[in-house]
Order: sequence, then structure tokens, then C-alpha cells
Amino acid sequence: MRSKIVAGNWKMNNSAKESKALIKNLKKSVKGLPLNNTRVIVAPSFVYLQKIAKKTAGTPIEVAAQNMNDAPKGAYTGEVSGEMLKSIHVNTVILGHSERREYYYETDTILKKKVLSALDQNFEIIFCFGEVLEDRKSNKHFDVVKSQIVNALFDLTSDDWENIILAYEPVWAIGTGETASPEQAQEMHAFVRDLIATKYDQHLAEHTSILYGGSVKPANAEEIFSKEDVDGGLIGGASLNADDFTAIVKAI
Ligand code: 13P
Repeated sequence: MRSKIVAGNWKMNNSAKESKALIKNLKKSVKGLPLNNTRVIVAPSFVYLQKIAKKTAGTPIEVAAQNMNDAPKGAYTGEVSGEMLKSIHVNTVILGHSERREYYYETDTILKKKVLSALDQNFEIIFCFGEVLEDRKSNKHFDVVKSQIVNALFDLTSDDWENIILAYEPVWAIGTGETASPEQAQEMHAFVRDLIATKYDQHLAEHTSILYGGSVKPANAEEIFSKEDVDGGLIGGASLNADDFTAIVKAI
């Protein structure tokens, strides 16, 4: 069966001291929780990744990178390669976040290259997708999500999909305090699962974890996670507070 996952995307937040305190508190509060196969992942800045990977080794907390370059190495100033991540024992990477799409112009074509490179290097990928507010208002949200998924992921083999986790993050709900209703999340997750079943098969669709992201907080997590096709969350703001993030982990 597919895994339940709660992942914290720290984005470009926290000083070294703050990151250290956050992971220390998180380790303490997650320790001893009955996780029942729920995976707990944090994605700190590259700057702290190696330290946090070391500090969490042997705990239930896993680490992920927030991005990676598709090239193996070379003259790409400011970029981080998969090989570098692997060398510090990071095996999971977030790709396709709307902030990367919007501010760094990562198109479906670029993302497809990143996905293929990451899979080639045996990464697990948390692949984000989601519509902007205008798409939803003009009732294009299903078409937009479908094209994001088809363009970046539908040339993959069924075996490749073993390493894909999906994260539906409606852009209008990210950092805005406005959440998709549990029904809106469920509707989109079921739509995506159906797309996978149609392109591949029911078994693969049933085994793919689909997370919801966008203003998930302790107060709304339980209701969102109660939906059949919501397998967990990708948490931004609330993952920066150990108590809030732990409360969200407990809500699953
Ligand atoms: P917020 O939880 O702050 O809305 O961010 C969600 C997100 O973008 C996680 O990747």
C-alpha cells in the first residue's frame, strides 16, 4: 500500500542556529510517536543539509533537498548536482515547486529533464504541481494539472514511478492562509490518481502517494488528511515550528 508522508519544506528560511534548534526540537517531539509507517521528511536549505542529514541519521526523520540541477557537474555557478547530494547521503529531492516554476522559470521541459536526471541517479522525487488562482476561477485547473503531470512524468516507466511522490499544491493556497477545502483537495487527488490509472494501471495509481500542500496547519490537517486520496502533506510555514509540524504529523 502507498505510504503516508508528512514533509516539511523549509524553503529559504532559518539561520544555522535556528535550523539546529528546529531539528533538535523536532527529533525530540517525533521520537516515540507511533508513526505507523508514516514517513516524516524535512527539506532544509542546501547550506544545512549535510548537518541535518547527520543529525537525523538513525531517527525516523528523513531529509530531502529542495531542488537539484539536471547536469552531473560542470560550470553552472550557484547550482547543486545530484552527485553532490548523493555524496552527503541525501536521496530525496523536491522538484517542480511552484516557486521554482514562477521565480526561476522552470518549465515542464526543464522539469522533465530534472526528473529524468534524478531518476537516473536513483533519487526519490517529490514532484509538485498545481494551478494558479486564475486557472481555478476559469475552471481550467484540471487541464493545467493534467498538462503539468503529462508533460513531465508520462514518459516514465512504471518502474520509474516507484520513486515518484506527488504533491498537489494549488498556488493560491501557498503561504496565503487560504487552504483548498478537503473536498477540493480530494477532488484533485482523485482526478490525478485516475489519470495515472488510465495511462498506466490501477495498481500503480493505488500505490502512488499524493500529498497536499498549501497552508496546512495543525487546525486543518486532520480534516484534509481524512480524505481518501490525500496521503499526507507538504508543509511550508508550519514546518518551521517543531510543535506545529509535530501536531500535523500526529494528525495523519
Ligand atoms: P505553506 O504551508 O506555507 O502554504 O507552503 C506550502 C508549500 O509550498 C510547501 O512546499
